[in-house]
Amino acid sequence: MLRDRYMERARELAERGRYSVAPNPLVGAVVVRDGEVVGEGWHVRAGRDHAETIALQKAGAAARDATMYVTLEPCNYRSNSSGESCTEAIPRSGIRKVVVGHLDPNPKMNGRSIGMLKEAGLEVELLNSPEFERQNEQWFWTQRVGRPFVHLKLAATLDGRIATANGDSKWVTGEEARRKAHLLRAEAGAVLVGVNTVIADDPLLIPRDLPQEPSRVTRVVLDPQLRTPIESHLVQTAGEAAVLIFTNATTDKDRRRKLEASGVEIIATPNSAGRLDLSFILDELGRKGISGVLIEGGGETARGFVRGGLVNKLTIFYAPKLLGSEGIPMIGSLSLEKMADAPRFSVSNVERFGEDVAITLYPSKIKEGYVHRVG
Ligand SMILES: NC(=O)c1ccc[n+]([C@@H]2O[C@H](COP(=O)([O-])OP(=O)(O)OC[C@H]3O[C@@H](n4cnc5c(N)ncnc54)[C@H](OP(=O)(O)O)[C@@H]3O)[C@@H](O)[C@H]2O)c1
Ligand SMILES: [Zn+2]
Repeated sequence: MLRDRYMERARELAERGRYSVAPNPLVGAVVVRDGEVVGEGWHVRAGRDHAETIALQKAGAAARDATMYVTLEPCNYRSNSSGESCTEAIPRSGIRKVVVGHLDPNPKMNGRSIGMLKEAGLEVELLNSPEFERQNEQWFWTQRVGRPFVHLKLAATLDGRIATANGDSKWVTGEEARRKAHLLRAEAGAVLVGVNTVIADDPLLIPRDLPQEPSRVTRVVLDPQLRTPIESHLVQTAGEAAVLIFTNATTDKDRRRKLEASGVEIIATPNSAGRLDLSFILDELGRKGISGVLIEGGGETARGFVRGGLVNKLTIFYAPKLLGSEGIPMIGSLSLEKMADAPRFSVSNVERFGEDVAITLYPSKIKEGYVHRVG
């Protein structure tokens, strides 16, 4: 069917924004007139023109009486460089019909834009097919729940160790797997680690060596006692990409001032028995407009999110190595006595990266009672 072919093309175009568009959704649009594609566009980056506007600009006068195929419901707020919304720009261009892949779960849209296009006299065909929701799993989750989509990523040996007992972890996996990890950072738009990882590895956590300019990434550290070193790469680059530290409300004021003077944002966090409240942290990140967060470990941090039932997606890169029981475990203690109580996942994808194998999984159950696995 021709409609499916054009929708598939729009989906492919949207895919081009996967590593640059966070915290916004991936969107692709195709304009077709008399069986000929006259304009194409995709959303590249938050703050830039939307896919529809770009496709209309390419089509120019050929948009008159044409059909637009777009993966996600168009927006109804000022979005393009001339201060128009897509629901204004589309009718003005002369487009007669719009085929929409899925409603946008953003409460400002969610059917309203479709109504506006109809009111402007356009024919609208709404498909609501799961493939368009699946393409934007991060966006759909964050719009419905108000928190970022949590993707836990770990690199482990075959026996589930992420570092030697003295903390050496460079490197568990090979270059190809590490390159993929940079893509996952760019896709999420935020990266979170525990303070031990900052101390042991001194990571930058900024996506590098990507074929296109990646999304701007926010770096987040769980650090109840403010042990993050001022001289760490993270703190020293706080002016380049935001750094947020979630800490205990009662931490040392002097250290706090020093970190803040380096450009780090410190957020006092409710806690019990020294454990920071991860739900509060996710709410706070959601309030800051962050749509996805890649949890990069270490094992203690991973434990907290798994135990809390807060993980939306899990990717483990297994290196064909063994470290033995003294190595640092991939997940800290879950205090389980019965196999039946183990958190369960279903495998979505298995992929090889050089010598390493990546397994991508979705949890069978998460806290909100809403499993984001479509189709
Ligand atoms: N292979 C990999 O994928 C990978 C990835 C990352 C790290 N690593 C390695 O893993 C090691 C570090 O792992 P780790 O398990 O020791 O530590 P970690 O998870 O990096 O950091 C743990 C610390 O972060 C704070 N923290 C984390 N979650 C918290 C929560 N819910 N509430 C309060 N505080 C929280 C605590 O700080 P306080 O102690 O101050 O209370 C805790 O001790 C390093 O050697 C690193 O090289 C490997
Ligand atoms: Zn728009």
